[in-house]
Amino acid sequence: MNNIAVIGTGYVGLVTGTCLSEFGFDVTCIDNDEKKIEKLKQGEIPIFEQGLASMVKENYQNGRLHFVSEYKEAIQNAEVIFIAVGTPPKEDGSADLNYVLDVVQCIAKYMNEYKIIVNKSTVPVGTAKRVRQLLKEELRKAGKIAILILFLIRSSCGKDRRYLILCTRIES
Ligand SMILES: NC(=O)c1ccc[n+]([C@@H]2O[C@H](COP(=O)([O-])OP(=O)(O)OC[C@H]3O[C@@H](n4cnc5c(N)ncnc54)[C@H](O)[C@@H]3O)[C@@H](O)[C@H]2O)c1
Repeated sequence: MNNIAVIGTGYVGLVTGTCLSEFGFDVTCIDNDEKKIEKLKQGEIPIFEQGLASMVKENYQNGRLHFVSEYKEAIQNAEVIFIAVGTPPKEDGSADLNYVLDVVQCIAKYMNEYKIIVNKSTVPVGTAKRVRQLLKEELRKAGKIAILILFLIRSSCGKDRRYLILCTRIES
């Protein structure tokens, strides 16, 4: 396992992607904000995190960290896909999952083989099942058959923080 895609290049995605590239993985950070992607390519880091700027620069220059705004190639090449888009609070205080669900549709569109999908966005309990259902529907519409395995793991960061891992095998 070597190729990783991180979707959403904000605080969480940029730090996650950069650290994974520092470990030696080939990481593509995807963001639909084209200006942000261009700035990152120029070495302009939109956030402050100690040591991050030099890590981004070094890994970008040595070719282990890439920044793109197009999904297709990054999704198809990745063995593991991290979702790290925003889930801002709605008026009623619940998390707006639209960005996460948009990303799931894009993943389904370009998915070509077995992928592990990890959701790092903060989401309410039950989102993993919702994501799995959406992925299944989108893949079915695209004529792809998938076996979706869902793991919910309680992380050590706190009782409300959960990671979703969806293992998907595309059979045709
Ligand atoms: N910031 C933190 O310390 C922190 C900690 C833990 C969890 N989280 C959670 O992680 C998630 C991300 O937080 P953040 O602070 O990094 O958010 P952020 O707003 O800084 O970054 C989100 C990025 O996702 C991009 N994006 C939105 N829709 C997209 C799409 N369809 N395709 C590609 N890119 C898209 C945006 O352009 C933006 O750059 C949230 O759910 C947040 O609650 C954040």
